[in-house]
Amino acid sequence: MFGLGPRKRPSRKGTGSFVDVPQDLLKEIEQLERHFTVDIAKLKQITNHFVEELEKGLSMEGGSIPMNPTWVMSFPTGYETGTYLALDMGGTNLRVCEITLTEQKSEFDIIQSKYRMPEELKTGEADELWEYIADCLSQFIETHHGDTSKLDKLPLGFTFSYPATQHYVDEGVLQRWTKGFDIAGVEGHNVVPMFEAALAQRGVPIKLTALINDTTGTLIASAYTDTKMKIGCIFGTGCNAAYMENCGSIPKLAHMNLPPDTPMAINCEWGAFDNEHKVLPRTPYDIIIDKDSPRPGQQAFEKMIAGLYLGEVFRLVLVDLHDNHETHIFAGQDISKLRKAYSLDSSFLSAIEEDPFENLSETFELFQNKLNISPSHPELELIRRTAELIGTRAARLSACGVAAISKKKGYETCHVGADGSVFNKYPHFKERGAQALREILDWPEKADPKDDDPIEILAAEDGSGVGAALIAALTLQRVKDGNMHGILHPENFK
Ligand code: GLC
Repeated sequence: MFGLGPRKRPSRKGTGSFVDVPQDLLKEIEQLERHFTVDIAKLKQITNHFVEELEKGLSMEGGSIPMNPTWVMSFPTGYETGTYLALDMGGTNLRVCEITLTEQKSEFDIIQSKYRMPEELKTGEADELWEYIADCLSQFIETHHGDTSKLDKLPLGFTFSYPATQHYVDEGVLQRWTKGFDIAGVEGHNVVPMFEAALAQRGVPIKLTALINDTTGTLIASAYTDTKMKIGCIFGTGCNAAYMENCGSIPKLAHMNLPPDTPMAINCEWGAFDNEHKVLPRTPYDIIIDKDSPRPGQQAFEKMIAGLYLGEVFRLVLVDLHDNHETHIFAGQDISKLRKAYSLDSSFLSAIEEDPFENLSETFELFQNKLNISPSHPELELIRRTAELIGTRAARLSACGVAAISKKKGYETCHVGADGSVFNKYPHFKERGAQALREILDWPEKADPKDDDPIEILAAEDGSGVGAALIAALTLQRVKDGNMHGILHPENFK
């Protein structure tokens, strides 16, 4: 049974059945199962290749996974203190927080405001993006601090969750846009001066202390409250992880002569895993997604897992089954709404997987309301199975990344802090990921179902808020202690 995806439907009332599904449609379902099922042998093969690719990314030559050193050089102790600003430039929202790390161990206070990230900005002009961000920050500070003329500059941790080479903790050269962003003139450039220029123009009293990836923030925030946390992951619009490496195991940093046992957090940017298409079981649908994306050939792993793409894979399957197969699903119906690229997001899939009714009546309504399509009952069964297959594949593949880091580091037991809309909201994602980890790492069946797994993926602390504040605090502290490695602007640390 392992590796075949969930045949039982834990969330559905009644058993659900394919008895009234005609033969031709059943054949289509079986074909989809062959396309989307990742069995144990494949999971293990992917994981082993992943370990090699992690190593390659750290080597002098580099590989397709960037493995970016972040200059975060310790875990928090829990005793960090101070007040910091944190800015998170995500795909949907812009979040600004003020975080106070209190005297009490591992405790903090937080105030925050969310601003919508206008869709047009994601593919517009660079200046407009930076100006919008500076305006939001300025508004936040005015609301919470009133007259800013006498205010000391506040230290800021800026969570910029795109692949960026960091020669310094306060610098980041964007390697390429991911998650559907496509703004000219930013790739290949250091984003910090662009951002600082917009702040300076408005006189916003902020000094940038650290540029941070959301995964690194997640790792550090989670380790603040749980010292067993060794890996931080995001399963959201994008998909990525960070973990703590030793400088001695990072050949591409050898020229810095850092003590070999000094820790260094690595932002893996594992979304780029297998851009060469050596091991991932890509379906024709994955190939279309890649071809039609703003950056074809990039983020091969991410495109099979992340929230941005799950709904699109699903949509492509349905359009294909309408147009190109012997059984034309939704025959005679107008599927023009379904033809619109990226019109279904992963919450659509979640809703299908969550439909509790034997007759899938909620799914039927979803299709009617959103797409103007009235699926037959057998078609509803196919729809449900397709959603399960896509969601299960995403969870199982993402477990390969976690297993690979654990194997590389020799972690037999640890906690993994995870965040992101897919992890938090997609039904069964956690259980499916845990099951895949068990298969990859050959854990014996639990004696008691309540027992913990040796490696557990748990809900993380707030990485882009508390994590960013902690990284700012850790950086200020180490500068104070005289560790100036990877500091570009010492004047910002006084
Ligand atoms: C994309 C970004 C990466 C980020 C991830 C999760 O993969 O490239 O930097 O960590 O999405 O948000």
